[in-house]
Formats: sequence, structure tokens, C-alpha cells
Amino acid sequence: MVADNLSEAAITRDLETRFVGQRVIYYPSLTSTMEVAKREAQQGAAEGTVVLADEQTAGKGRLKRLWLSPVGNIALSIILYPSLSYLPSLIMLASLAVVHSIEAATGLKSQIKWPNDVLINGRKVCGILMESDVQGNTMNYTIIGIGINVNLRLADFPEILPIATSLSDELGRDVSRLSVIRHLLVEIERLYLALSNGESLYQEWRDSLVTLGKRVHVKTDQTI
Ligand code: BTN
Repeated sequence: MVADNLSEAAITRDLETRFVGQRVIYYPSLTSTMEVAKREAQQGAAEGTVVLADEQTAGKGRLKRLWLSPVGNIALSIILYPSLSYLPSLIMLASLAVVHSIEAATGLKSQIKWPNDVLINGRKVCGILMESDVQGNTMNYTIIGIGINVNLRLADFPEILPIATSLSDELGRDVSRLSVIRHLLVEIERLYLALSNGESLYQEWRDSLVTLGKRVHVKTDQTI
């Protein structure tokens, strides 16, 4: 496996962002980065703080599903304090940032499956979970949780083999998680600043949709 050191220093060194990823809280193993990020946000952590784990023992997926999160993958949560009006755009932002960073780090093209999966060749390579605390018209915080299958041999996980893929399985070689993470943090900040400058991400997000023009079945829940 590519030796990639996910320490705070390795991620933040010369990282070209103003705030996203300027503080990284790294754990070799953790139940879920969502839980720690939520606690940090409630205590007023700086915007852009990232909680990162090499492995999660109780990773959270959408609709209360478990998210498989072994060593070799990326599992991180980012704390943001956006205004409430950005909320509908944040899922577009996160999925576009993943598509861009996968391409920048590996050359692989991926597509978005609405609302928040990223696929390569029709199989899921990334899941995104957003949890927000909203009171009245005020957004207290939003946590964007991103899980990317990076160095995962799907043959070792028959339960998800038919529907999932990983960057290493697609390329036939291991991939530097550090490179994907650093591209991802830069992209998230760039798109977040674009949103706050009044730019719309809709057209680009729509162009990246795998479901464009297809009939979709929608299930709703409080988290997306
Ligand atoms: C899904 O597709 O169901 C969403 C999966 C989200 C997984 C990520 S991994 C990092 C963060 N921590 C978690 O416990 N879940 C999210």
C-alpha cells in the first residue's frame, strides 16, 4: 500500500486554503468522525476544522445505515457555519468537490448519483452525509461527512462487491489518500467561497449527474 501519513502536519503543510483543513483532528481509529465533529462544532471549533480517522468502527451512512470504513479509505467530516440559505447547495458542493478531487489526484472520471453518491463506472466510490443544526432561521453548524473508498480490495468485501468500487480497484494500483484529501479540502473551500460570492453550482452539478434524464425513486429522511 502507498505509505501515506495522514497526520495533521502532512495534510496542512502548505495547504492552499484560508480555513478549510487548516486545523485537522486526526484519530487512528474512531467510532465516527461525525460524532467528534458535532461535539467540536458545539464547542465552537474554527470553521473548516476537519475530523479525520484512519478507520471508523461505527461509520454512519444515510438512512441510519452503517458505513464500512476500514484502514485505507478516507473518512472525514468538515465543520462549516454557513448561512441557512446555502443549505440546499452544500450537497452539490460536496459531491462536486469529490468528483474534482478524484480526477485531480488520479485522472479517474466519476459521476454524481443524486442526491449524494459518487460513482465510477456505475459503482459507488463515495458517500456523503450532511448533518445540520438549525434553530428557527439560524444555522448553528453543518457537518459534511465524506467517505471515499480509496485503497480497498472489494474482493475482500463480498457484501458490497456488486455495488461498490474503490480508486485502487479502478486503477489497479494503490492511491495516495493524502493527495485526494488535500485536493478535496482545496476544492471544498474554492466552491464554498464561490457560493458566498453568489455563484451557482447548479449547472456544473447537473452536468455531472449520472441520473440526468432517468426516472429516480426518492426516499426522504431528516439527514441527507
Ligand atoms: C452514505 O452514502 O450512506 C453516506 C456515507 C457517509 C460516510 C462518511 S465517512 C466520514 C463520515 N463519518 C461517518 O460516520 N460517516 C461519514
